[in-house]
Amino acid sequence: MLPRKAILNVKPYQPGKPIEEVKRELGLQDVIKMASNENPLGPSPKAVAAIRKYLGNINRYPEGGCFYLRQAVAKRLKIKPEQLIFGNGSDELIELTLKAFVNEGDDVVVASPTFLMYEVASTAHGAKIKVVPMRYFKYDLKAMKDAINKNTKAVFIANPDNPNGTYVARHELEDFLKGLPGETIVFLDEAYFEFVEEQDYPNGLDYLGKNNIIVTRTFSKVYGLAGLRVGYGVSSPEIIKYMEAVRDPFNVNSLGQIGAIAALKDKEFLSKSKKAARDGKKFLYSELKAMGVRYVPSVTNFILIELGPESCEVTEKLLKKGVIVRNMKAWGLENFIRVTVGKESENKRFIRELKEVFNDYSLAS
Ligand SMILES: Cc1ncc(COP(=O)(O)O)c(C=O)c1O
Repeated sequence: MLPRKAILNVKPYQPGKPIEEVKRELGLQDVIKMASNENPLGPSPKAVAAIRKYLGNINRYPEGGCFYLRQAVAKRLKIKPEQLIFGNGSDELIELTLKAFVNEGDDVVVASPTFLMYEVASTAHGAKIKVVPMRYFKYDLKAMKDAINKNTKAVFIANPDNPNGTYVARHELEDFLKGLPGETIVFLDEAYFEFVEEQDYPNGLDYLGKNNIIVTRTFSKVYGLAGLRVGYGVSSPEIIKYMEAVRDPFNVNSLGQIGAIAALKDKEFLSKSKKAARDGKKFLYSELKAMGVRYVPSVTNFILIELGPESCEVTEKLLKKGVIVRNMKAWGLENFIRVTVGKESENKRFIRELKEVFNDYSLAS
């Protein structure tokens, strides 16, 4: 049995290890996960309460068009409801964009290293992928623009980026958008939008209408609902109409919709989550600096940390101590790990265990 040719080239995405699996495999009681950029504070309490209330209705199919969630998000963002599409996580919007606009053999431009799903999904789709290296952990938008021609159907930009944690500034985005071919979709992934506090960080929604931009956001990160899988895309009604045509009718489950509506109103949780990321980064930066460890300053809820050639081994050693972080091998960043900012106690434990691992190395040498 042979799959479609394109599938043979796919390197499947490896998600971070779940806590329960690590506990079972290693016989550990107390495991913390700082590996998948999730919200360490848990889900929005308002979302949990709304979901509890709704549980008796899950015999019904979900609202296929996310009617109430659509109204709530449209009102919040001051856009028309028909400018929105919802996905089973913002991941699904990558798929829907490819399905709606990219023919097999069309060019797609991605950066490297970045969120791996752009390349995984585009490869599976049979697109021809042009990879443009990052420069100093930032998008080289000039090189990306040079890589785009009239055959380029989509370009993927995560702003801010994962795993780098850096962002494209307003003037950089504006220069990039100027004079792009009309047929190119700019997929502007703002999964970490709410965490960014920099003055020159652009809001992708300000650029809708000027180019073929699809801005995506998610309830997985700052709202703490990663397990429910709800994300959305914003674009022109015309682009959304084509994406809707290739969407499964019930792609967003009912608990996800109920939870997302409630989370949107949970202003207290939102500011607590942002504060946890801000304070956590401050603590981790100062500890890493004191240890002489280099990192890439981040505007998100995770940090790319340089540990040198032993970084994969360090990840394994931390795992055995019950701290799950991400090695960056799959991204080609062999000397780095990515650590999600945790709760205060988790950040302290990560630093404590990292110091112990370093200590073991110095004792061994
Ligand atoms: C840049 C980026 N985009 C999209 C996603 C997918 O998020 P979700 O599908 O949970 O909305 C992630 C998840 O880590 C991400 O880092």
